[in-house]
Amino acid sequence: MTRGGEKDLIDIDQLSREEIDWIIQTARSFEEVSRRAVKKVPALRGKTVVNLFYEPSTRTRMSFELAAKRLSADVLNFTASSSSVAKGESLKDTALTLQAMGLDALVVRHPVSGAPEMISRWIDASVINAGDGMHAHPTQALLDLYTLHKELGSIEGKTVALVGDILHSRVARSNIQAMTKMGARLILVGPPTLIPREVEESGLEVSYSFDRVIGECDVIYLLRLQRERQREGLIPSLAEYARFYQLNRERLEKARQEVIVMHPGPINRGVEISAEVADLPRSYLLDQVTNGVAVRMAVLFKFLGRRETEAEGER
Ligand code: NCD
Repeated sequence: MTRGGEKDLIDIDQLSREEIDWIIQTARSFEEVSRRAVKKVPALRGKTVVNLFYEPSTRTRMSFELAAKRLSADVLNFTASSSSVAKGESLKDTALTLQAMGLDALVVRHPVSGAPEMISRWIDASVINAGDGMHAHPTQALLDLYTLHKELGSIEGKTVALVGDILHSRVARSNIQAMTKMGARLILVGPPTLIPREVEESGLEVSYSFDRVIGECDVIYLLRLQRERQREGLIPSLAEYARFYQLNRERLEKARQEVIVMHPGPINRGVEISAEVADLPRSYLLDQVTNGVAVRMAVLFKFLGRRETEAEGER
């Protein structure tokens, strides 16, 4: 269980339903900013945000960078190679050094689960988890919720299938927390080797057959299949995986007409999703990317902007 302080966003379980609703509402008004000719508001003027990324990432880093810039914060990108990673001391030194330069928020992506939470204890600045190991990816789950709220109004009572490599997916973990908290019915779908035992024991619905449950779904959320899983012997072959779990045209025929298809990206066309389905209007993949900027603006504003206002009020 991780928490982080009030200043930090480490995982979804620290947020109340009201706080999630607030983020969704605020993202809605920030989305409008992104549609203006001048895409900027002064909400975080004078603040410094550092993106500290120990894993390759394009979309998440750029999304955070755009979000901070649209709120008028100054942004620095620190991209470290993962070779300097597991050394706790050097991570601490990096965090303390950045803090000494006067940053206000550190957006952290790290291959080790728990790294952002550790950093949040070392520094006073806000720490926002941008994905840590197999643990959590809270802003991804928030942007997914936001995308669904825009389309469905609310996800209360809706059926969502999370399909694929649940075991290794921080996106799945954060989405299970977020969607359950907001009242959705979740079905975890995938081969038994990729579904964690704890999940099955926790009482969440599990199905090894995508075909059996696809007709019940309001939302199909596909996860990226990491190719190394085949080398690890967790799936027999990519073709075999695709035969049972790929969302292709034929399988989609069994789904409801209005089903929403989502994926956090990057996608492997031809593995978890067919090229054709990825480009259909009911695939919300690019909406998720667009919405990611607005949601990260709301998150940065919540953890940085409001803090400042409260501190100034105290003076
Ligand atoms: C996800 C991640 O890195 O956790 N992608 C992302 O944030 N855009 C999902 C993935 O890599 O499969």
